[in-house]
Amino acid sequence: SSNATWGGVFDGATDKRVERFSESVSYDRRLFEHDIRGSVAHSRMLASVGVLTSDEQSQIEAGLTMIGLEIQAGQFEFRQELEDVHMNIERALIDKIGDVGRKLHTGRSRNDQVSTDFRMWVRTEIDRLDGLLKDVQRAFVGRCATDEGVVLPGYTHLQRAQPVLAAHYWLAYCEKLERDRGRLADCRRRVNQLPLGTAALAGTTIPIDRQMVADDLGFEGLVANSLDSSSDRDFALEFCSCLSVIAVHLSGWAEEWVLWSTTEFGFLKPPQAFCTGSSIMPQKINPDVLELIRGKSARVIGSLQSLLVLTKGLPLAYNRDLQEDKERVFDAADTVTACLELAAPLVAGAELRRESIASRLDHGYLDATTLMEHLIKLGVPQRTAHETIGKLVGVAMQRGVRLADLEVQEFTSACDKLDESVYEVLGVDRAIEAFRSVGSTHPDRVAEQEAVWRERLS
Ligand code: ARG
Repeated sequence: SSNATWGGVFDGATDKRVERFSESVSYDRRLFEHDIRGSVAHSRMLASVGVLTSDEQSQIEAGLTMIGLEIQAGQFEFRQELEDVHMNIERALIDKIGDVGRKLHTGRSRNDQVSTDFRMWVRTEIDRLDGLLKDVQRAFVGRCATDEGVVLPGYTHLQRAQPVLAAHYWLAYCEKLERDRGRLADCRRRVNQLPLGTAALAGTTIPIDRQMVADDLGFEGLVANSLDSSSDRDFALEFCSCLSVIAVHLSGWAEEWVLWSTTEFGFLKPPQAFCTGSSIMPQKINPDVLELIRGKSARVIGSLQSLLVLTKGLPLAYNRDLQEDKERVFDAADTVTACLELAAPLVAGAELRRESIASRLDHGYLDATTLMEHLIKLGVPQRTAHETIGKLVGVAMQRGVRLADLEVQEFTSACDKLDESVYEVLGVDRAIEAFRSVGSTHPDRVAEQEAVWRERLS
């Protein structure tokens, strides 16, 4: 038999087609560092409880370390017939140090081994992604100084609504990414529970010390139930769910910027190095990177979907279906990584087209709500004020002018509480100054927030 790992009960070799069909080493080799680290910790624990002599443990650790270096140097030959990364490394160890290597798999199974390796991989990815999210946040915060004092039209339903400071806009995305970081951090707590030693599904009769392994590998706790653990891929689902939310945030931002880059909006010039041209139309400068960031969210969401469907019908405990989890998680993490790596320089390098934005701030009655609130402050009930200002907006619209272009008599006859002071309220700059509430776009509130963000990210 080509696979001596379980050769005993079998009377012949595995069909070649089955080997090709069932292998995972072509992709799970990505786990090799964690597999080796986990095995070293396992061997140390086996020595400490007296299952291995310290000499045997030293041989195993030295052998595993050497294998790790060979893999790193690209000098290791992964064999498909050995199925996965775990058996490839174990076989290489046995080839290297002989029979002592045959003791390593004592008190564990590939079921707890793969879960341990995968959790360590996810944990590392979470830490890396946190850094990338922080880089994008820094890029957004950096824009606040670049675009100081710039006013943007804020939209709801993609219709002009109220004015906002550009800095307020940049910090809005910082908040979204902060929640993404919080979700990842929370996910990490559940990822970081050690399954090793739960063995195949029921535990082991070998007197192992799981806590020692957890301490060695930096796990915060031990998974409590072997039967649960063997089937548990919640950590992968949760991680992909966090990644999906990040991808959705990036996708919404990218969509907004694709729109902003149009001639119709004329708000934004993405850095040219992040655009591509057309093979036929010479004038084209297309925001392809933004479009791809938007498009790649589909892959990430698809991965989450795949994992949910993969696990929805599985009984306890380990089922081979679970091997299908890794490629989806790898792809989701790689995709989000690539998007974040491009988002930071895109945010930093884009240019707000200030004149084009400013030239149309008078369109869309961005100050109408401020005028309504002015009326409320003069004692008019909100519903009445809403209707009064609505009528005035209707008049201005019909005439194609701003609210500030209406005659004072038109204001006073609409409501006797109104007088010349309306002109001190109207216009986007005054509207911005009139905001009061915590979390609003008033320059002082925004400056406070910017300071909070600079402090937080320093
Ligand atoms: N390659 C397998 C996986 O990724 C490792 C666990 C295999 N366990 C088993 N009983 N066949 O899930």
